[in-house]
Amino acid sequence: MVSDEKAARGIDQAVFGQLPDGRQVDVYRFTNANGIEMRVINYGGIILSLKTPDAQGEFDDIVMGFDSLDDYLSDEYRQANPYFGALIGRYGNRIAGGRFSLDGETHSLATNDGDNHLHGGRQGFDRVLWQAEPFENDEGAGLVLRYTSEDGEEGYPGRLETEVTYTLTDADELVVDYRATTDKATPVNLTQHSYFNLEGEGRGSILDHHLTINADAFTPVDDTLIPTGEIRPVEGTPFDFTQPTPIGERIEQDNEQLMFGKGYDHNFVLAEQAASSSEPVLAARVWEPDSGRLLEIATTEPGIQFYSGNFLAGDLTGKRGQAYEHRSGFALETQHYPDSPNQADFPSTILEAGETYRSRTIYRFSAQESAGS
Ligand code: BGC
Repeated sequence: MVSDEKAARGIDQAVFGQLPDGRQVDVYRFTNANGIEMRVINYGGIILSLKTPDAQGEFDDIVMGFDSLDDYLSDEYRQANPYFGALIGRYGNRIAGGRFSLDGETHSLATNDGDNHLHGGRQGFDRVLWQAEPFENDEGAGLVLRYTSEDGEEGYPGRLETEVTYTLTDADELVVDYRATTDKATPVNLTQHSYFNLEGEGRGSILDHHLTINADAFTPVDDTLIPTGEIRPVEGTPFDFTQPTPIGERIEQDNEQLMFGKGYDHNFVLAEQAASSSEPVLAARVWEPDSGRLLEIATTEPGIQFYSGNFLAGDLTGKRGQAYEHRSGFALETQHYPDSPNQADFPSTILEAGETYRSRTIYRFSAQESAGS
C-alpha cells in the first residue's frame, strides 16, 4: 500500500477452508480509507491480520495468527491454546473449580485449565462457527457475527443469543460491540483475544513496548491464577503502569504475583469505572519505540487483563514463518473481573432473562516518533 495515496475503502470475501464436518469457513477483508486492513474469519470470530502504518507510513501486520484454517485446527495449536485473535465466551478468563452457584443452584462447567474453567471451556466461542454479515456505513465497514449458545452448553444455564460487531472505521479505529440476551440467568463476560506486537507480529519481543494502564489497583491471584478477592493498590509494585513503562522493566522482579503469572497475567481494575459505564473510557495505551506505533484501548468494561504472552514457547509458527517466542505478543482483554460468579464483591457478571448485555471496546491505531503521554 502506498502511504500517500488514499486507499479505496472496501470489503471482500473468500473461502478460507472447511471444518472437519464440512462446514465452510469464510474470510472477510476490510480496508479503511487510510489503507488499514483487517482480515476476520467466521470461525471463532478470529482476527487473522491487522495492518497499520508506522511513523514512516510503512504498513505491517501487528497481530499474531495464521494464514490457514488447518493451523487453527491442529492438535498442536489446540493443546497450546493461545486463543490467537479469537472471540471469547461465554466467560473471559477463569471460573474457580469450574463451578458457581446462582439462585441456589450449583452449576458445573467444563474444566480446561487444570481444575478451572478458562475462556468458556473446551468448545468456547473461539471454536464455533458464527453466522457472518458484512456491512458498510458512514463510519466504516465491518462484520456482524451471531452465535446462539444452547442451554447447558459447556455447563452454562440459559440459551444465550450473542452478537458481536467489528467495525473498522475511517478514523483508524476497530470498534467491537458485544450484545447478548438469555432466557435464564447466566454469567456473561465476552472479550477479544488478539495478541499484538506493534513492531510487527513475529518481529521479536514485546518487552520494549511502553505500556500505560489507567488502573490504580489490580486483582491478585493464587497459583492457579484465580483472584483471591483482594483489590490491591498498584502503587509501589511492578503492577503500577499509571505512567508509561516498558513492559520488561520490572517483569523479572522477585514478586509472588509475577511468579504465579510467569510474568503479567492479571486483571487491572480500571480507575474511572467502578462498574460498567455506557461510554468507553481510555483503559490502556501501548507505544512501540522502533516503529512509533501507538495503540489506545477504550472500553465500557470495569477491568482489563494484561497478559504478557508468558505461555508462548516458540513451538507455533506464524504468518511470516517465524516461531512465536516467549513474550513476542501481548493481550489486553477488556472484561469484568475473572471468577466474578464466585466473588460477591466484584461487579456482577450475571445477565438476567429479559436484560440485554452490552459492552463496547475501541482500539485506536496511530503512530508517533516519541512516547508522548
Ligand atoms: C489468560 C492466560 C492464558 C491466555 C491464553 C489469558 O487471557 O489470562 O492465563 O494463558 O489467556 O489462554
